[in-house]
Amino acid sequence: MVELTTIEKLSSKASFTELFQAGDLENLIWEVKLFAHKAFKNKNSADWRELQFMLFEMNLYLMQNGYGLGTSRSLKEWVIRDTIERVEKQYQLQEQISSEPNNDAAAFISWLKERISTHRVNHHPLFVLFDNDDLSAEEVRYFLSNYRVNMQRFHLHVAAYSLIVPFEMREELYHNLYDEFGQGDFSQAHPNLFEPLMNYFGGAREEDINPETCHLLNTKISLCWFADGLHYGIGGMGALELAIPLQQRHILAHLRRRGLNEEMVKFFVVHCELDEDHGEGWFNAGLPYIRTDEDLQKIFDSAMRMLEARAGVYDGILRGILSRRMERQAR
Ligand SMILES: [Fe+2]
Repeated sequence: MVELTTIEKLSSKASFTELFQAGDLENLIWEVKLFAHKAFKNKNSADWRELQFMLFEMNLYLMQNGYGLGTSRSLKEWVIRDTIERVEKQYQLQEQISSEPNNDAAAFISWLKERISTHRVNHHPLFVLFDNDDLSAEEVRYFLSNYRVNMQRFHLHVAAYSLIVPFEMREELYHNLYDEFGQGDFSQAHPNLFEPLMNYFGGAREEDINPETCHLLNTKISLCWFADGLHYGIGGMGALELAIPLQQRHILAHLRRRGLNEEMVKFFVVHCELDEDHGEGWFNAGLPYIRTDEDLQKIFDSAMRMLEARAGVYDGILRGILSRRMERQAR
């Protein structure tokens, strides 16, 4: 079902299926390229929304059914993904890191940690609503529903990425997975901890999902499942893990002030108070493999790309909350 929707969506842009069947890969690439340029030029556009949902559906299908090697789906998807990734890269902010911390991996990492902590994602205006207890139960539900999309699948990116890292580095990743799965107690696996809280606020709905939420998942898939070497994963996932407690403590404090008991907020307690060393672990594990200026640049680029995608999730949620409030006022 998902495969058809994906291809149908593309078909509405141009007749991709027909083009492909005619063996015209050049045309497929050309059409996807045009579509992707329109999308990345304007992240408020219908094209952006459609592109992110298309990739998202492809990614959910991938997680359920694998790559489908030897099928027409497989080849089509590789072409579509590859074309979108090439276009997306052109729209990323380029910041050349100064030669100051270069070639000293440890000094670079401590500099990078500083950059991560000052990133806009950690000081997002959405957190002002949490800090001021300025959120209705329905708004918290909508937030959690978007949060859940990426939370549920976090461990899968770690697992997929682990396939291409050296044996020694896998130790850290599998340690991370062990924690994600409740350290041997499946009922404490992080996605399981989240559900009672989600249900308390009324449960997740498909129509809650924003394109920015899809974009974060799509970014993780590109950097971890379709990795181009190990450095993009170190930067992207390390930055995410390191910054998570900085963001979640606003949420945790708000939920506690709402009167929720410790059992209910356990998901956030785990990430704010127990999991703090995960980000450190990612960078420490990667340290032996950071050797050249190019490695440093890749780690930096992917850290910023991932944090920006995460900030985008908060942008989308905040926009959703404010526009709903305005709709209500207009009524
Ligand atoms: Fe977790």
